Amino acid sequence: MKSNLSLEKLWQAADFNPNPNQKKAITHIDGPLYLPAGPGSGKTRVLLWRTLNLIVFHNINPDEIYLATFTEKAALQLQEGLRTLLGLATNETGIHYDLSSMYIGTVHSLCQRLITDRRFSIDHRRTRVPVLLDDIDQYFFISRRRNWERLLASVGWPADEETHQTINAFFNTNSESKYRAIQHCISLFNRFSEECIEPRQIWRRTKDRDLKRLIDMYGEYLKLLETAQTVPHTDFALVQQCAYSRLNSFVGSGQVFKYVIIDEYQDTNTIQERLYFKLAAGHKNLCVVGDDDQALYRFRGATVENFVEFPERCQQHLGVFANSHPFETNYRLARRLWPSTRASSPAAIGKRMENPTA
Ligand SMILES: Nc1ncnc2c1ncn2[C@@H]1O[C@H](COP(=O)(O)OP(=O)(O)OP(=O)(O)O)[C@@H](O)[C@H]1O
Ligand SMILES: [Mg+2]
Repeated sequence: MKSNLSLEKLWQAADFNPNPNQKKAITHIDGPLYLPAGPGSGKTRVLLWRTLNLIVFHNINPDEIYLATFTEKAALQLQEGLRTLLGLATNETGIHYDLSSMYIGTVHSLCQRLITDRRFSIDHRRTRVPVLLDDIDQYFFISRRRNWERLLASVGWPADEETHQTINAFFNTNSESKYRAIQHCISLFNRFSEECIEPRQIWRRTKDRDLKRLIDMYGEYLKLLETAQTVPHTDFALVQQCAYSRLNSFVGSGQVFKYVIIDEYQDTNTIQERLYFKLAAGHKNLCVVGDDDQALYRFRGATVENFVEFPERCQQHLGVFANSHPFETNYRLARRLWPSTRASSPAAIGKRMENPTA
């Protein structure tokens, strides 16, 4: 039954007519793949079809695919989208594709899972799951009176407005606000964790006493996360470091996933980039999709260079060349401009976008 089924047939069932570069990306199998594309150009859709192609037509087990994005909302879109598309295949083949243990979600949630995944330890033992603090939890954790006082006391600062003023001034803000001081500390701590900056080295090199204090506060914050509660806590930035060190301590970590696929890659920071290249080290099937324009709105220290220099980094880290298929048509804009043509032929809209006067 499965032999009668083809991607083209499924595209028809989904009323999807991929353009030539989308087709190349969906059917690409071996080696790294670089998909730079504008907004609304079908990036996410293509990733979903590519994942389906691997599972349905190339017998890749969903457990062997790592599919990540950044926000909860985008992760949900991936999960639901993939389920829907695989449902179309199930209608034709009768085969049920089980996604329950697939790595599909936000990079942070996948890192949390990875830390406890037996496939990444020599003796296949599970480690203890740390409690993951999201951005808001992290703020409340640090701002809890006892914790904030402990962080400041560790560097000899009293918990008063003058200290908040000093911290804010270090970040060029004239304010006594505790809230702002904590926000500044959080963004510094997260940068240390995400950009793989070695704070002790900066401490040794700098003569700035306030910077030295902030670095020491970061050290105290790490201790606090470990010991403040009965179960260790971690934050979004540190959970990635923890996952990365787990990968580094296990020789076979690059073999576990046959395919590593990342959406919204323009938001990728240093630690995430290291993680992805490590995960893809064995099979070298790393596919990234991103929009360098959207990276202008980046936050949490992500750097657009990681995206635009992806082909060179593949050479450097994987020793192989990345195929590139840019997507240029903005289908969302096309719909807004020519809504009436949408129902009859989505592909025609794309063509008219490329040549609107035709
Ligand atoms: N070949 C195509 N023909 C018609 N419509 C398409 C095609 N490819 C994508 N689309 C439509 O374009 C819209 C945007 O798709 P998608 O969300 O995958 O794009 P994206 O590039 O991931 O967007 P974003 O920039 O928001 O992340 C969707 O409605 C999708 O159905
Ligand atoms: Mg998208």
